[in-house]
Amino acid sequence: MEQNRKPLIAGNWKMFKTCSEAADTAEKLVKLTAGVNDREVLIAPTFTALSDVRNVIKGSHVLLGGQNLFWENEGAYTGEISGQMLVSAGCSHVIIGHSERRQYFFETDETVNKKIKAAIQSKLIPIFCIGESEKERESKNTFSVLDKQVSKGLKDFSSDDVKELVIAYEPVWAIGTGKTATSAQAQEAHLFIRSLIEKKFGKMLAKSLRILYGGSVKQNNIAELMSMPDVDGALVGGASLDAETYAKIVHF
Ligand code: 13P
Repeated sequence: MEQNRKPLIAGNWKMFKTCSEAADTAEKLVKLTAGVNDREVLIAPTFTALSDVRNVIKGSHVLLGGQNLFWENEGAYTGEISGQMLVSAGCSHVIIGHSERRQYFFETDETVNKKIKAAIQSKLIPIFCIGESEKERESKNTFSVLDKQVSKGLKDFSSDDVKELVIAYEPVWAIGTGKTATSAQAQEAHLFIRSLIEKKFGKMLAKSLRILYGGSVKQNNIAELMSMPDVDGALVGGASLDAETYAKIVHF
């Protein structure tokens, strides 16, 4: 973690929690992380719980994010949610291209690119997820996969467009499996991603860009991961669902 990049600890609640459960957890999290100002804390509940969560975190340091969006502002797109709708629900961030969306909902690098564009137009900070599968790692294709995901996902953007972008490196084999990447594996991937950003957008942006690690982040591995120079935060799934557990990760 570099001193000039403020760490971001983001909780992806995936498809968990009813409205009241989400509000209850968020309320506890606000109290348990009160006073934290050297890092950012974010939660991304389901769409249905955004409004209830917003009410309990209002005025606090806890930030709100969506888990997905559609690239049109409005229209006949049954079941979809736009960037401006997320903004109106109190979101400042949106997770885009999570591997579960790529795997189960057929998102591609091209649709991810459109979604990032829509997020930027709506003034949402995209948390752009990338990462290789187990097979890709085993066949030594990690770097080529990351290269392709970054170049296609960020196609046709200027450095100004992506100045607030956050990238989340989430190796698919580490998500929900309890198998965390070692801090050395995370650092190696993050450094590579930063070099891709430097090639594409220049040194300045590469230096300020925050790269989060995601995949079985827990209380017992967060400090080690965060000690790496190119790990600037975490995208936490399962361990963010309980306020006490998540607060311990925030306070790593
Ligand atoms: P886990 O922390 O449950 O492995 O999930 C990681 C993740 O997918 C966050 O987006």
